[in-house]
Amino acid sequence: MAVQNRFSDELIAWQKAAGRHDLPWQKTRDPYRVWLSEIMLQQTQVSTVIPYYARFLDTFPDVLTLAAAPIERVIEHWAGLGYYARARNLHRCAQQIATVNGGIFPNSAEKLAELPGIGRSTAAAIAAFSFGRKAAILDGNVKRVLCRQFGIAGFPGAKAVHDRLWALADSLLPDSDIEVYTQGLMDLGATLCTRSRPRCGDCPLATECVARRDGRQGELPEAKPRAAVPERTSGFVLLTDGQRLLLERRPPVGLWGGLLVPPEGEPAEVAARFGLQLGETTPLPPLKHAFTHFRLTLKPVLCRVAPGFQATEAVLEWVDISRAADAGVPAPIKKLIRQVASAGG
Ligand code: ADE
Repeated sequence: MAVQNRFSDELIAWQKAAGRHDLPWQKTRDPYRVWLSEIMLQQTQVSTVIPYYARFLDTFPDVLTLAAAPIERVIEHWAGLGYYARARNLHRCAQQIATVNGGIFPNSAEKLAELPGIGRSTAAAIAAFSFGRKAAILDGNVKRVLCRQFGIAGFPGAKAVHDRLWALADSLLPDSDIEVYTQGLMDLGATLCTRSRPRCGDCPLATECVARRDGRQGELPEAKPRAAVPERTSGFVLLTDGQRLLLERRPPVGLWGGLLVPPEGEPAEVAARFGLQLGETTPLPPLKHAFTHFRLTLKPVLCRVAPGFQATEAVLEWVDISRAADAGVPAPIKKLIRQVASAGG
């Protein structure tokens, strides 16, 4: 049997036997009701939607009533569902259907997708549930099911992966029972093939599932790649008289605000800034530290301060090397100081 037939046959059989059959919007093919449910169900759980759906239909039983209502009333009935652009688009869509189409919903996924607030996947769901049209859905749950079943690598939001998933979703469509198949995909994603702890033992597609075979359910679908973080490099001058380290109190705002840190910069700059005479200088191994928004490579240099230097700048403090690591310094500086202390200053 072809792959797509096996996939859809098993899903359809499972939906009939174990899927959800009592959701309020499953009792109708009225495109108005199906459309309303699909918009409410975008980014919102079934249990949250159910009472809103009932109240909304009590007040706005058909598309012409909704189109004629003031937007404030619509928003009032949406209050608490979130993503209010959905309510505004819903109202605009109703008005468009009322004025342009005489209150009749278009019956193809392509035409539905031209209306406000109806994307490609929502259009397909409405076309399948209301008109039995053969059209593929691809919401977040379906992406998860397909990525796991077929072992699709890459972040599903990336264009190439997204295009591949759409092509796959199209290729899997059955020639009959499109409503059951579409509902089955939704049910499987919502009840078994969940993001965490999927119930593979109950899944009708488990024997062919690549993620299950390879134990990669936790890795598929792949997460959004993290944006590259900027890299910075900075010199730090560990000034010592042999016994003590000269640390600078940072200004209260900014990186390491208020903490004690060896002066930042190249030795010559630091010497000029504080009027120092430098003795022998020894570069120390660089150290990397990851902050939330960037990575810093610290290039430390150990410098002898000419004997007799008095720290008159208020921001400078002499601290005994043996206790400098615990004098309220940031983590990577602590590491640095420990290296210096253990090397004997
Ligand atoms: N999520 C999106 N559409 C749905 C539907 N028709 N039934 C259940 N969950 C859904």
